[in-house]
Amino acid sequence: MNVILGVGGGIAAYKAAELARALMERGARVQVALTAAAEEFIRPLTFAALTNRKVITDLFAAKSAEETLASSVEHIRVAQENEVLLVAPATADLLAKFAHGLAPDFLTTLYLAFTGKVILAPAMNTNMWNHPATRDNVGTLAARGNYILPPDEGLLACGTTGAGRLPDPARIADAVMMIGHPRKDLEGEVVVVSAGPTQEAIDPVRFISNRSSGKMGYALAAKAAARGARVMLVSGPVNLPEPYGVEVVPVRSAAEMRDAVMSHLEEATIIIKSAAVADYYVAKPSSQKIKKTAARMSIELDPTADILAEVGRKKGDRLLIGFAAETQNLVQEGRRKMETKNCDMVVANLVTREGTGFESDENEVTLVLRTGESIQVPRMSKLEVADKILDQALKLRLALYSRT
Ligand code: CTP
Repeated sequence: MNVILGVGGGIAAYKAAELARALMERGARVQVALTAAAEEFIRPLTFAALTNRKVITDLFAAKSAEETLASSVEHIRVAQENEVLLVAPATADLLAKFAHGLAPDFLTTLYLAFTGKVILAPAMNTNMWNHPATRDNVGTLAARGNYILPPDEGLLACGTTGAGRLPDPARIADAVMMIGHPRKDLEGEVVVVSAGPTQEAIDPVRFISNRSSGKMGYALAAKAAARGARVMLVSGPVNLPEPYGVEVVPVRSAAEMRDAVMSHLEEATIIIKSAAVADYYVAKPSSQKIKKTAARMSIELDPTADILAEVGRKKGDRLLIGFAAETQNLVQEGRRKMETKNCDMVVANLVTREGTGFESDENEVTLVLRTGESIQVPRMSKLEVADKILDQALKLRLALYSRT
C-alpha cells in the first residue's frame, strides 16, 4: 500500500516519525510531506532517513525555474501514485483549509488533487478541538467521506487535560492498514481470536503464567479486521495497543477465557485459538497473601478445561484454527492436535528457535491442514504470517461452504 503521510505543524509532529516507521513495519510504502509549520517542529532529514525517500516540503520553496516547474506538477503525480493520504497531526488550521478547499501549499493542494482514501488524525488543544468552527470543519470532512481518527483524551503538551492527543502511532498505522486495505475478502465473516497468556492466581498478588506476548493473536485480529471481518479478540493480559476496529474482550484466567470464547461461539464463523492457555490452575488459591516460611512449599494444580477441544466438539461447520507451540516433532504434534481437537488447521511453531515464536515480532510456522497438506511459512513478520494463515483459512472455508 502506498501512503502519503502529511505532517501538520503541531507539537505532536514528533510522533509522526514513529508513525512513519509503524506504517513501514506493516508493509506500507511511505512518502512524507511536511508543511512549513511542521518543519518548525521536526526536520525533513528525520523522515528521509526513516523512509529512505526524499521528503516533500513546501510547494513554492523550489529555487530554480526547472524546480519550480517540476514541483508545480508534483502534487498531481503524488496524488496519482498513492492510495491513501494520511494527515497526522491534522491541525485545526489544516482541517479548516481542507474543509474550505483552500490550497496555499503542497499538502492542501495535494488534498484537492487526491482521489484515494483520506484519513485525518487531528491533534490540538482541547478548546481548539471543541470549538464550533473545528467541529463544523470535522463534520464537513467526515460527511465528504474522509476518515477521522478522533484524538485521545489525556495530558496535553499545553499542560491541560482533555481531548486532543494524537493517538498511539501503532493504532493509527493499524487503522490506515485497515481502511486502505485493498482486499476485503473476509467481509461477512465473524472471527473470534484468542490471544496472549492466561494468569492463574496463587494468592492476591501472585500468579502462574507463561511467556506469550499476544503479538501473533493481535496481528491476526488486526489483519482479519483489515480484510473486512467482524473481529472479537479474547485477550489475556498483554502489553499491546488494541487493534483498530476490533472488539477486545479482556480476560485473565483460563476459566475466564473459556467462558468468553464459548459465549461468542454461536455468532462466530472462524475461531482462531492462538492463546497460550495454562494447562493447570491453582486448585485452592489463597484469599490472603501467602507468607514466607523456611519450609519447602508446594502448590496443588488441577488441569484446566481444554478450550480448543471443547470448541472442536461444538463447532459444527465453523472453521477452527488451533496453535501448537512445540519444542520438537513439529508436524507430527500439529497433526495429532488437529485430530484430537477436531481443528481444520493447526499453526505449529518451534518455540525454541531464536528470533521467532514467543515475544518476537517475527515467526516461522508450519500450517498443518485438515486436507492432509502441510505448508511451510518461512520467517517473516507476524503481520505477514497472519495474512498467510488467513489466506489458508479462506481457502478451507470456501471448500467447507462448497461441501454443504
Ligand atoms: N488450548 C486451549 N485450552 C487449553 C490448552 C490449550 O484451548 N487449556 C489450545 C491453545 O490455545 C492452542 C492449542 O490448544 O491453540 C495447543 O496448545 P498447546 O499448549 O500447544 O497444546 P496442549 O493441548 O497444551 O498439548 P501439549 O501439552 O501436549 O503440548
